[in-house]
Amino acid sequence: MATWSAPGKVFLFGEHAVVYGKPGIAMAIKPRVMVTVRKAKRQKKPNSTYIAECFRQMGVSGSVYVRSQLPSSSGLGSSAAVTVATLFAINDEFEIGKSADELALIAHTVEKNVQNGRASATDTYVSTVGGMVLITGNTKRRLPPPQIQLVIGNSLTHHSTSGMVARVADLKKTRPQIADPIIEAIAAVTKCSMHHFNNPRELGNLMNMNHALLEALGVGHPQLSRLVLAARAAGALGAKMTGAGGGGCMFALCSKGAKTRVAGAIEACDARAIITGIDTQGVRKEKDE
Ligand code: PMV
Repeated sequence: MATWSAPGKVFLFGEHAVVYGKPGIAMAIKPRVMVTVRKAKRQKKPNSTYIAECFRQMGVSGSVYVRSQLPSSSGLGSSAAVTVATLFAINDEFEIGKSADELALIAHTVEKNVQNGRASATDTYVSTVGGMVLITGNTKRRLPPPQIQLVIGNSLTHHSTSGMVARVADLKKTRPQIADPIIEAIAAVTKCSMHHFNNPRELGNLMNMNHALLEALGVGHPQLSRLVLAARAAGALGAKMTGAGGGGCMFALCSKGAKTRVAGAIEACDARAIITGIDTQGVRKEKDE
């Protein structure tokens, strides 16, 4: 029996644009997914397509037990965390001997296969290495982790990542003259943010711009807009959706003093707030119970 855990994430900047080779910045957060894998003669049918695909890729069969601190289908990277923790647990339990880099690549393949070919390496990479990462096409880089305080707001409406990615692809096809400049502008905001990680006020402004551009791209949701506006009105330095959009989660950048007020404002909008920060650790082995 082997138990591994992997963290969720927020997309600080660049979701959707990252699918088209533009830069994306993501940060691992404290809530995690724990996965226990045990050898079994026959593969028990897992109720997650991601887990089934992990076993298929690794060429073994076993049983799985998952405990998650992350809401699913909400932009916090729970499917990537499940995938990464499952692959590392399989590798350990079956003594397969693959390196962390190899497993991170397989994790990206699993996500692509389950999500109809369209998935950047952002979620699986940040869940593997933790901290803050920059993804541009096939290039992955770790960035120095900033000291920032986040309040996540879960709108409690689920989204489909592949559905939202397909919606943007459709807009790009039917209205390239509108979609392409928006994607370019998201890339410009992401690049600009890299000069401001020690300046929370400016970072907050850039988050607000990124949120507006995602709405213009058609991946907003009324409840996400409500939470973003409530967080800003309660004193957040900036707020934006995270991940695919169309529901799921938003997050607010806060000073220490404003965290509880912002969380209260989010909860007052019939949503769930999570006060969290960066997790510098990625996937890790847990003690077997
Ligand atoms: O909603 P999530 O956590 O699956 O994030 C999706 C982010 C996208 O940029 C829309 C897609 C991707 O693969 O990067």
